[in-house]
Amino acid sequence: VTSQTHTAGAVPAEPANPVDHAEGYLPDDEALVSARARAQDLGCLPVTVGTGAALRMLAAALCARAVVEIGTGAGVSGLYLLRGMSPDGVLTSIDIEPEFHRAARTSFREADIAPGRTRLIPGRALDVLPRLTDGGYDLVFVDAARVEYPYYCKQGIELLRRGGVIAFHNVPAGSRAADRRDSESLAVRELARALREDERLVPALLPLGGGLLVAAKNC
Ligand SMILES: C[S@@+](CC[C@H](N)C(=O)[O-])C[C@H]1O[C@@H](n2cnc3c(N)ncnc32)[C@H](O)[C@@H]1O
Repeated sequence: VTSQTHTAGAVPAEPANPVDHAEGYLPDDEALVSARARAQDLGCLPVTVGTGAALRMLAAALCARAVVEIGTGAGVSGLYLLRGMSPDGVLTSIDIEPEFHRAARTSFREADIAPGRTRLIPGRALDVLPRLTDGGYDLVFVDAARVEYPYYCKQGIELLRRGGVIAFHNVPAGSRAADRRDSESLAVRELARALREDERLVPALLPLGGGLLVAAKNC
């Protein structure tokens, strides 16, 4: 029996698009709305509501006590991560622009995040990542220069403990994405292939925001 054969009212209403439904499932609170406004003022595109909810859930599922974020922005994704992490967990977040770190500090303060729970490291991610402890992190979230995603991937996997998760923001899929030849698209495709072929990893591409590519490191 297909849904077309049911009479009106007999079938629960389906959302027109499941992605829209996922993006509207958990609304932002005041602190997130304010952080998003700050991001917009600075011209930085934060994670969507659906992507943020997935990040918070991943941090909670991992009981994350140590998370690395590449690309702090105005702190929107950081707030989701901090809210999913263990209450004593520390978010290490890297950004090349001091202005974004200032904005993120304001976002964290407004959300009553204890100052000791965030470690904001200024600089280029490729210079900062080698200074972090290999195997010392539960979750790595990547949302910075997409041409550098394959390099963040190599370094990020080393930072993860066994069973840890790495997540990449804005990894589109589909035939349109597959046709693009610009350097960002090529780098992102290289990343997607590397995750698929890496025997240490269990990957999945989630249709949230611009595409959230996640992979767990084997136990
Ligand atoms: C899209 S924004 C991050 C948004 C943030 N994750 C959120 O959802 O609120 C990208 C950030 O990456 C930073 N960025 C770009 N290239 C970088 C690099 N090579 N190293 C470190 N940060 C970089 C930018 O300054 C910007 O703040």
